[in-house]
Amino acid sequence: MQAPPARPGDAVGDIDTPALVVDLDAFERNLDLMANAARGAGVALRPHGKAHKCPEIAQAQLERGAVGICCQKVGEAEAFVAAGIRDVLVTNEIIGGAKLARLAAMAKTATVAVLVDDVAAIPGIGVAARAAGVNIAVLVEINVGANRCGVAPGAPAVAVAQAIVRTPGLSLRGIHAYHGAAQHLRTPEERRAAIARAVSLAHETKAAIEAAGIPCPTVTGAGTGTWQHERDSGVYTELQPGSYVFMDADYQKNALAPDQHHFEQSLFVVAAVMSAPVRERAIVDAGLKAFAFDSGPPLVYGAHGWAYVKASDEHGVIAVEPDAPPPRLGDRLWLVPGHCDPTVNLYDWIVGVRGARVECLWPVAARGALG
Ligand SMILES: Cc1ncc(COP(=O)(O)O)c(C=O)c1O
Repeated sequence: MQAPPARPGDAVGDIDTPALVVDLDAFERNLDLMANAARGAGVALRPHGKAHKCPEIAQAQLERGAVGICCQKVGEAEAFVAAGIRDVLVTNEIIGGAKLARLAAMAKTATVAVLVDDVAAIPGIGVAARAAGVNIAVLVEINVGANRCGVAPGAPAVAVAQAIVRTPGLSLRGIHAYHGAAQHLRTPEERRAAIARAVSLAHETKAAIEAAGIPCPTVTGAGTGTWQHERDSGVYTELQPGSYVFMDADYQKNALAPDQHHFEQSLFVVAAVMSAPVRERAIVDAGLKAFAFDSGPPLVYGAHGWAYVKASDEHGVIAVEPDAPPPRLGDRLWLVPGHCDPTVNLYDWIVGVRGARVECLWPVAARGALG
């Protein structure tokens, strides 16, 4: 773990670079907006911790009424449980004795839930739960259009639910119906249509499970791009958005309908100009190892005529337009990551700033939790 790039009370201009920085005012408005919107509709909020990997942020979400936290990996969940979070849903299929034993061990101190999309995966989870003397809640993951994990909706999902309830040590919590591919559809109409289909598949599957005499209390899913549709569906009981706390350049490209909420950009990488060899080019100290580039390069925030155009391992090239002021050595650029989750995973610390001062340093405790 690297030394923190700042201390509480430091001037923002003194943060060592490159650093992952959160504007706390914008961040808190994002937290409040989502918490109030879910509460107002009577739908539970279980934000996704894969976006921030940070127990302090999870705690802030719980204080605003979240029922628990989603994680994508057992290691991520372990970091949250070790920090005192008492309700985690691993929104993933977990295969293999070693990982299942870790999952079951967490259930001794926390409520733990996990996904299944195959009858063949169920005995292993049951064995791990019974060996640890715990109960593990299980949700049937159905494919509602993302074509990632997920059993087909309807009868195939009912067969998985039946196998779960027959297995000692396990209980069926409901269905997981997350439509990842819908989140970044650019128009509100496209997202609305994709989620209308997901809602109908989730509704049909819940009804089929209940018709088989099995209670199906929870239908969970949704992300930052579509959550209003799942919230208003009358079918989903729980929302699991993650990126809304930070936002990123990719999510900023989603067009919003007039009634849709706008989350603010709160996450930045602050980088410094370390070379300005010619007027039209400056080099910052944040390159491929400082950002995830899967959704394109970062945007230069609040500066006109400067664009981040190229990266190598440790360098970022800033193109300067002829009428823009030339960057000087030591200038700080606030850069908006293309994709927030994998960018956060590159840093040990989140620097929380309010106005011109550093207020807090939060460890990215689940950084690198790949298993
Ligand atoms: C299962 C699941 N739920 C929720 C989310 C949250 O999505 P977002 O960060 O886009 O809000 C993700 C993100 O990939 C996910 O995989």
